[in-house]
Amino acid sequence: MAMTPPRGRFITVDGPDGGGKTTQAQRLADALRARGAHVLLTREPGGTRLGERVRSILLDNETGVHAPIADALLFNAARAQHVAEVILPALAAGRTVICARYADSTLAYQGYGGGLPLDHLRLIQVAATQGLRPDLTILLDVPAETGLARKGDELTRFETEFDLAFHRRVRDGFLAIARDEPDRYRVIDATQPADAVFARVLAAVDAN
Ligand code: TMP
Repeated sequence: MAMTPPRGRFITVDGPDGGGKTTQAQRLADALRARGAHVLLTREPGGTRLGERVRSILLDNETGVHAPIADALLFNAARAQHVAEVILPALAAGRTVICARYADSTLAYQGYGGGLPLDHLRLIQVAATQGLRPDLTILLDVPAETGLARKGDELTRFETEFDLAFHRRVRDGFLAIARDEPDRYRVIDATQPADAVFARVLAAVDAN
């Protein structure tokens, strides 16, 4: 009889814009692969063909002002496909999954930032994720001003449509979520140089 491998580890890298999530998630994947782990590196919104299509709608500067609940449902539609098609099968096969952004981004952006009730968002999220929660979430924490300044000219709808006050609420939202779930979260000061941030990311992953 075939043995089922133990479920893999699910690590998310999340936080405000401009915290270096893409770079740090990539470095983490490289480091764990160098140790022999079977790593799947993915991102939200995206990670599937459907999800990448939804991503381009979400980030499009030409679709007018979206109702926050429309955004929340679109992010969760992309997430539902991502969890079902990619993340759960990879975890079931024993792979380590590293995902840049996940459900906490919807709570922070559409909830704390956009003002949607957190309990409504949590209900939608449980359905979209089939209840899948990360084993570890790395919060790359950066003040809104610093993060937005780092993004330079590559601005998506989220950086152009929403003001500094919105991005400050997002950052405070992430910190509040991290305080509520200290066992799952590691908060890392992402204003430091990338090498110093990565050393802390790896230490957090090894300690968990
Ligand atoms: P990215 O640039 O990190 O790939 O994410 C695209 C934008 O989408 C970013 O500004 C954050 C935003 N976002 C949300 O507002 N809600 C979500 O649930 C996710 C995953 C991202």
